[in-house]
Amino acid sequence: MNDSRLKNIFGDTYTEDFFSNGSRFRDTLNEKGILIFKSFIGSSGLMALQEEANMLKEHSYKSSSEYNVYISEHDNSFSKNSPRNRIMSTSKKCIPNDLIPKESILQRIYDSHLVKSFFLDLLDKDELYPYEDPLSSININYYDKGDALGWHFDNSDYTITLLVKNCKKGGVYEFFNDMRYKDGNEDYDFVQKILDNEVSGIKVNSFEGDLMIFKGSKSIHQVTAVEEGERILVTFNYNESRGVSLSEKSRKTFFGRLK
Ligand SMILES: [Fe+2]
Repeated sequence: MNDSRLKNIFGDTYTEDFFSNGSRFRDTLNEKGILIFKSFIGSSGLMALQEEANMLKEHSYKSSSEYNVYISEHDNSFSKNSPRNRIMSTSKKCIPNDLIPKESILQRIYDSHLVKSFFLDLLDKDELYPYEDPLSSININYYDKGDALGWHFDNSDYTITLLVKNCKKGGVYEFFNDMRYKDGNEDYDFVQKILDNEVSGIKVNSFEGDLMIFKGSKSIHQVTAVEEGERILVTFNYNESRGVSLSEKSRKTFFGRLK
């Protein structure tokens, strides 16, 4: 790596050459809805990240939230049991960006031009911006025993995550690829089948150090409850326009404060 701030972070495969052309992964992402870059973080980087996450954990904010899969307000024109209104829940702990040290590997990855140009190329975007508020661009999420992430669609088109620590049992990421719309409309019937456990999705086996990119706004997803151990997942969050803050409601829910 020419950039000294990126030394000793990535796994062996992830050279300058690797990052120089993200577009070669575009078709796979579009077809499969997900890309997993195995051992994106090398072993020394991973050790540093786990240590950092452990140290920060005592400052994390514990939240329990309830929402529907569309993360939208209750709509009276649908029944209470409609997937449009059905209540899902998430419980986790979270470290917002302003508690992550500037020298952290996470911040160095997020600020890197090399990595960002790779994402731009891969996602076919002209620009990606950090959140305007100081909390929401990079988050460390902790799932302890019993913690889970209920079914939902994300607000942003793409979600980029890094698994820092895997739990021993449970905590499985499951998704249905690009199934949200049918003939241009929300496919409530299919979502109902998912929520009623009549169908099962693709379960992803990911490992510590893996970077995952998925189409979160079109692919419903969940993480099952952690049964044993602890799962630590970092999200790298970007916006397509400048000056966007995460909603006040979400900041209050996940960080317990607005700034
Ligand atoms: Fe999500």
